[in-house]
Amino acid sequence: MSSTRTRFAVVAAAALALAAPLAIRTAADAATTHTAVKADSFTAAQVLAGVQANMTTANKVNSKPHINTMTRAQNVNVYQVASGVYAYTSSMAIDTDGSDPDPDHQGQTTWQDSNGKALGAHHVPFYVLGDDCWDRKSPCPHFFFKEHNIKGRQFALMFYKGKCIGSIFGDTQTANDQTTSDNDSRELGEASVKAAQLLGIPSSGTTGGVDNGVTVVMFSGPSWVVNGTNANLNANTQALVQKALDDLGASMGGTPPPPPGSTFEAETGTLSAGGTFDSNHLGFTGTGFANTANAVGAFVEIPVTAATAGTKTLSFRYSDGTTAARPATISVNGTSRGTLNFPTTANWDTWATASISVPLTAGTNTIRVIGTTAGGTANIDSVTIS
Ligand code: GCU
Ligand code: CA
Repeated sequence: MSSTRTRFAVVAAAALALAAPLAIRTAADAATTHTAVKADSFTAAQVLAGVQANMTTANKVNSKPHINTMTRAQNVNVYQVASGVYAYTSSMAIDTDGSDPDPDHQGQTTWQDSNGKALGAHHVPFYVLGDDCWDRKSPCPHFFFKEHNIKGRQFALMFYKGKCIGSIFGDTQTANDQTTSDNDSRELGEASVKAAQLLGIPSSGTTGGVDNGVTVVMFSGPSWVVNGTNANLNANTQALVQKALDDLGASMGGTPPPPPGSTFEAETGTLSAGGTFDSNHLGFTGTGFANTANAVGAFVEIPVTAATAGTKTLSFRYSDGTTAARPATISVNGTSRGTLNFPTTANWDTWATASISVPLTAGTNTIRVIGTTAGGTANIDSVTIS
């Protein structure tokens, strides 16, 4: 509850029994429902971009601004970025009750681990929220956790300079009957030593912290309360990060990157003269396969997308029901990357895989399969990137 700027060690649990939880009030909440986790995998950068896009006036939860714990500027707002998910961007002041090194906060945090021990600031990544509604009003003009189905050890994602960690609600900021000029429950922007260390932020209780740029995304509801002890709460929290990214990414309606191993059908591509997309042999995927002309240089060109740049494996699903291989040059974005043999298959209904490693750029790439013999290419069904 105290930090670089806030030296009081206050045990304020008595103030926690004030208000009953209220229904969430924002328009965004009425319009969305909680979405189950999908198999699609979202990156931290994608989710942060989605969160920031949803940090709009229409989604603002508080009507009075919060105080940046480090700079004291009254410019921090909380936004509902998806159903039951709340985000703010502020400072990170380091919660050590003003001591450095920290005596590990034993006996001083508002919330406890699953064994009833105060949370250890060096062991558990946690964030700090106001202890009460400063204005003593309901609904609170500020973001007051009790009105939003948030409890001790409530999970959050924390983002800072390209890093993303899991964190839990670990401590509260002084109630309004205990305020000083720079220490009250309207502050937002404080976290534990461990949270700072994981995000690469200086973690000294007296000289550490950052003034701005830390985004905290809180996931409300009982299923997002993290259990564990000082010894394993960090691991238990980090284990939820990808699930949280995927859940939030899906509920914000984002488009996930093509998962590793994405398959692209040949029939989404184009053919050189004389080729056709056919469906007269069994076992193809999608709506058909590429049948190039029987000629040297006949090709099929398939657009693919890659989530990231780098060397990838292209696996072509093909069929060659003749008695001779159908070797073909593989080019990527116009540059030849080698020749694949495409050996014969038992018949035209039997499909095999031929693979080659090639460099891809992030985003769209054009793959061309170019026959090097008079037969043209084998029938090409699809290409998979992995
Ligand atoms: C047959 C077969 C085609 C194939 C062609 C070829 O006509 O039905 O699917 O493309 O042979 O030899 O290329
Ligand atoms: Ca053919």
